[in-house]
Amino acid sequence: MATIIVNDNPIEAPEGAPLLEVLRRAGIYVPSLCYLEGLPPYGGCRMCLVEIEGARDLQLACTSRVSDGMVVRTDTPHVVDERRVVLSLILANHPDRCLTCHRVVKCRPGDTCLRDDLVSHRCVTCSRDYRCDLQTACDIVGMAGYEPWLDELRTYYRTEPPPADRANPFLEFDPQMCILCTRCVRACDEIRHTGAITLAERGWESRIAFGAGGAVHESNCDFCGACINVCPTATLMEKPNKWAASETEGWVPTACAYCSVGCTISLGVKRGRAVIVRPDPSNPVSDDQLCIRGRFHYDAVRDDDRLAEPLLRRDGELAAASWDEALEAATSRLAAIREEHRPEAIAFLGSPFATNEENYLLQKLARAVIGSNNVGSSGGAVIDAVGQSLRRAFGTEVLPADMSGLAKARTILVVADDLESSHNVACLRVKDAVVRNGARLIVVTPRWGELCDFAQVWLRPNPGQEAHVLAALAQALLQGERPAASLKESPLVGLEDLAKSKAPPLSADLTDLVSQAALTLAEAARQPPGERRIAIVYAVSHLGAQTAGTLTAAVANLAILCCGPDEAARSLFVLPPEVNVWGLQDMGVTPGLLPGYRPVEDEGARQEVEKAWSISPPSAAGLGFREALAASQEGRIRAMVVLGDNPLFVAPDKGWVKSCLSSLDFLMVIDSLLSDTARLAQVVLPDVGVFGKDGTYTSADRRILRLRSAVGPIGQARPAWRILSELGTALAQRLGLDGSAWQYASPAQVMDEIASLVPLYRQARYSELESGAQQAFADIQPAAAALQPLSLEPTAAGEGLVLTSNRTLYTSWEGATIHSPEADKLHREEFVEMNAADAAALGVEDGQEVVLANERGELTIRAKISDSVLPGSVFVPLYYDGGAVTALFGHEDALARVRIAVKAIA
Ligand code: SF4
Ligand code: SF4
Ligand code: SF4
Ligand code: SF4
Ligand code: FES
Repeated sequence: MATIIVNDNPIEAPEGAPLLEVLRRAGIYVPSLCYLEGLPPYGGCRMCLVEIEGARDLQLACTSRVSDGMVVRTDTPHVVDERRVVLSLILANHPDRCLTCHRVVKCRPGDTCLRDDLVSHRCVTCSRDYRCDLQTACDIVGMAGYEPWLDELRTYYRTEPPPADRANPFLEFDPQMCILCTRCVRACDEIRHTGAITLAERGWESRIAFGAGGAVHESNCDFCGACINVCPTATLMEKPNKWAASETEGWVPTACAYCSVGCTISLGVKRGRAVIVRPDPSNPVSDDQLCIRGRFHYDAVRDDDRLAEPLLRRDGELAAASWDEALEAATSRLAAIREEHRPEAIAFLGSPFATNEENYLLQKLARAVIGSNNVGSSGGAVIDAVGQSLRRAFGTEVLPADMSGLAKARTILVVADDLESSHNVACLRVKDAVVRNGARLIVVTPRWGELCDFAQVWLRPNPGQEAHVLAALAQALLQGERPAASLKESPLVGLEDLAKSKAPPLSADLTDLVSQAALTLAEAARQPPGERRIAIVYAVSHLGAQTAGTLTAAVANLAILCCGPDEAARSLFVLPPEVNVWGLQDMGVTPGLLPGYRPVEDEGARQEVEKAWSISPPSAAGLGFREALAASQEGRIRAMVVLGDNPLFVAPDKGWVKSCLSSLDFLMVIDSLLSDTARLAQVVLPDVGVFGKDGTYTSADRRILRLRSAVGPIGQARPAWRILSELGTALAQRLGLDGSAWQYASPAQVMDEIASLVPLYRQARYSELESGAQQAFADIQPAAAALQPLSLEPTAAGEGLVLTSNRTLYTSWEGATIHSPEADKLHREEFVEMNAADAAALGVEDGQEVVLANERGELTIRAKISDSVLPGSVFVPLYYDGGAVTALFGHEDALARVRIAVKAIA
């Protein structure tokens, strides 16, 4: 440590630390308009001048390093004068607005201004007022209202201001405000690894340009918003609520709801509405980054689109009803069906979009009140298959891998359709590892995604052959030099069976690439334990349970082979698609497992649950989603209670699903939107949106994320935990049970019950979660590590093109749920992607409408010709038109086959 003297006060700091950061941490303000913490200094704005004893001239604090005995002054008249000179040069080409307007002495905070708005800080004619680094710098060095150019013509008035770009829905670019600090350029390049912004031209012509200099939305910008965060002026601003957000009344830390990375966000609120999102760095995985979904999807649907009152079906139509009427209808119908057809005639669907507390209450309602283990979700088959493979490998599906270490990995294998789109911030951490630490990256995917450009080896199998490639990798590792020293010491369970299993042959090109990738993995695996730093990242797709199970087994095998049995589970990152898939499983929203993975058939497990519930859950195994639907066709399932799930969006074989749901005697849906599933219901109970909820989610790396209610309910909507609590009370009383056990006062109380029942959540009481996102399961280490043989068949040939579908980046889940034409505001994902060779053979032109058809249905959509997909395959975004593509998939299938024809003109 070094001791330096700053303005006569001693400060301890690490020798060699950047002086500017040391001063900032000591609470000493030094204007610094181009500095970005964590990146090398740029030294462009010249605002951070300080006096350092012994130096001839003033020095830049951002480029100076601390050395023991250094004497620094940050506030001498000379320093302040020089900063003013620098600022006057910057301001000579900056609009007046808040700085030099002649009314500046009249418009004081608290006044009502020309815009009939309240002046918060200074002039409100700029949307950055009160949150602008340049404005703050002017204030602090005494430049507010100060005109150093009196009687001089300023550049700003002598040049035509460049036009603002307001052509996209998310980001406004107003270059007349730009001070050329290049923070945005460096953030986009060095923090996001995107490089959508450049500093174009030279000298007086210098300017910030997106892509080739055109509109922002025509560049490769993916609207993550990182540049907006770092821009010190009003040049880069969020477009939604641009003005409202300048006067945010409060910031509420909560969680993003749009994928399982589980980024922590801070929601700016004004008059009960969310108006802006910023990253909340309390989460070590997301830190100061988000993707477009976290940043902008908070207002993807309007308040008017949300359900504001309960709905009851009357004369075939859903009509508004009071809460008393709706709860009475739900209670009496469920009680009557239970009475007439037994408890097993009622099924329950939870949701990975619902909180842990809500999913817990749902399965408790099913088991403790109705007496049925028929609990599942429409995505349950895929996740159950993943869970089973993990249990076979590690004895548990709860892995200790921690994504906050992903950026430090040295060798990374990514198995994902397109990680950039499905789990954006996890993908960013992989890119960090490659760009900053030189990690070697192997990507396995048939479809191009941005991450492929960062890979040392891109293994590109045909769709459906990903597991074949992984099996070939495992074989190459086994047949080559022994990959890890530890393998000799720790005999591997299942090694013989795996070595004997055969993988279908690959093409010669792919075989060569597999050998290259195997060499990379083997080299990493030969490092001593603790230094291997291998990460295997697998993003689970929505469709195809069997494929997901096989892929999970294949990645688990590779983790064990490369990392050894002790480190494998810590190195394997299994990322489910939606935010709370793991929470859904942990809470027992599965037909065979009670909360905490207790098997329903296990008497001891049921007794443990009985202690908490004062009632024993049923012992008979229940039905999952698909089995329940099949049983509905036979009249064995008569009613379904759906919490936030929307099978008509994501479940394959949509026609069959719809006919099953329609055949139920009673369907009840709790949701904040009138989804396609809710449209079929007899009773719809309005939930609040995710940003109106208190509760928790559990992220891909089992981090418990606290959701805090930031916005008020729309109309009479109530949070689902409360709806379930009221329904539980009413049903329990109707059935002669103890209704008082269901009167929860808050989700915190529900979590207390969960914490007492589910050992994984024992540290998840709200009082312990106050510090933000936590990895509450830090003490987990699976006891077992077993290799599994894979049963792989060659992909069946068939007619037509192979269709795949998956989550994409831009389309909002909520917007898609209500089929909003604005679900993808940028209209970047409203297409079927097809290879040029197939398009030419079929006579399809780019942008033309085509019809995809097979025996299950058809879909009309525009064609986008691209080499992102292989010849013989096409891709449709899963969220397009509320999951329209799932109509073409069979219930077990990760792939479908379709005929494609140009749409005939009527
Ligand atoms: S960008 Fe900042 S300094 Fe410039 S007018 Fe706006 S608030 Fe004032
Ligand atoms: S929004 Fe993100 S991707 Fe777009 S220019 Fe800014 S930093 Fe780059
Ligand atoms: S747009 Fe903003 S961040 Fe980028 S150079 Fe201009 S002022 Fe700096
Ligand atoms: S990566 Fe996932 S959790 Fe993070 S902001 Fe994007 S959608 Fe939200
Ligand atoms: S912050 Fe030091 S030169 Fe800009």
